[in-house]
This record gives sequence, C-alpha cells and structure tokens, in this order.
Amino acid sequence: MVENPLILAPSILAADCAALGEAVGKIKSAGLSWVHFDVMDAHFVPNLSFGPQFLKSLRALYPDMFFDVHLMMDNPHLYIDAFASAGASLINVHIEPDFPIAETLREIHLKGLKAGITIKPKTSVYELAPYLPFVDLAMLMTVEPGFGGQKFIENSYEKIAAIKKLRDEMKLNFRIEVDGGITPENIANCAKAGADTIVAGTAFFKHEKELMAAFKNA
Ligand code: DX5
Ligand code: ZN
Repeated sequence: MVENPLILAPSILAADCAALGEAVGKIKSAGLSWVHFDVMDAHFVPNLSFGPQFLKSLRALYPDMFFDVHLMMDNPHLYIDAFASAGASLINVHIEPDFPIAETLREIHLKGLKAGITIKPKTSVYELAPYLPFVDLAMLMTVEPGFGGQKFIENSYEKIAAIKKLRDEMKLNFRIEVDGGITPENIANCAKAGADTIVAGTAFFKHEKELMAAFKNA
C-alpha cells in the first residue's frame, strides 16, 4: 500500500477574520498548499463561521491552493453545489447528521472534487466503514467540533491507529486527517499513529515557526 506524504492543512478559523486573504497568503508563503476551511451552521455545532462567498473570494485570490472544506452542518447535502461553485477542492461531510450520505459523496465526485467523511470524537471509526470505499479522505475530529483552540483528546491516537488498520484490511488508500488541538508537541505522535493529513489552526497562526519545524521532523 502506498504511504501518503504528510500534509499540513492550516485552518483559517484561527486567523484574523478581517484578513483572511493574508491568512491564505501566509499558508502559501510557508510552502504549504492545503487550506482547511471550517463551515459551521449554528445547529450541528454551536457556532457560526464562513459561507461560500468567503471561499469564492479566497479562491479568486489563490487559484492554485487546495481548499479542504469541512462542513459542520446538519444539511450539508444542500450546500454541495454552492461550495463546489465557490471553488472547493475537497468537501468533507460528517456522518452524524441525518442526510443521504452516499448520494452526497457521489455528488461531490460528480462535481470533480475530492470527497471526505468525518466523525466527531465520540463516534466509532467502524461507523465509517460503509463509506470508506467511496472517499478520498477520512477525518477524525480530535476535539468536539465548533471552536478552535481546544485541547487534543488523548484517546484519539487509538482511533487513528484503528482507522489505519481498517484501511489496510480494506486495501484502500484514502488519506487520514486529524482536526483539533494539534500542537508542535503532538503532531509527530499523530503521524506515527497513522495520520497523513494534519489540520492546525491555533498552532499555525500563533506558533508557526515551532509548528513548521515539528511538521518537517514528523
Ligand atoms: C473545530 C474545527 C477545527 C479548528 C481547529 O471545530 O473543525 O478545524 O479550526 O483549530 P485548532 O487547531 O485551534 O484546534
Ligand atoms: Zn475543521
């Protein structure tokens, strides 16, 4: 099985929201190409963030960046077209809300984008199994979704290892992404457990030098 190269995807949720364009510029200047774009609907999570018009403006400024769009929404299937038209590269949906998941993954692929599937910390990785053959990436939330700057949930390492094992058993090659509470101290352990795609908001925008050094050594 091919090992995926490690990717760091800074989350602009932790950036100065009056300067999101500069935030993406900072990610690009660090030599990175993935931007994690957190969408919150105030229902699935108790917070609001950015809509498709934000993505459209950022995409216009940065045609070559990879926008990893994380939909924390109760009705993500109603917004695939909007985020695809706005310039998403990958759309990531949670399995917890009640919506047609398989059809939604298919629609994301039909738009020519990569598709991701995501679980909250209390959801078992085995609930992802039916969808894994149809995704490019599976993401484990390593904090309760809704806010940046929270502490990494320690039992996440076991979940990362479990999904990696499942990927091997199923002979698949989707990326394994982790999101929430990543620091210069725990990034290498996440990679060692099997994560190949790492989201970091606070750590990137507040401790860029330390995080980049830890990422390069991970
Ligand atoms: C949380 C978001 C995360 C968040 C991570 O709901 O999905 O992407 O930005 O932020 P940090 O890295 O600060 O924990
Ligand atoms: Zn996220």
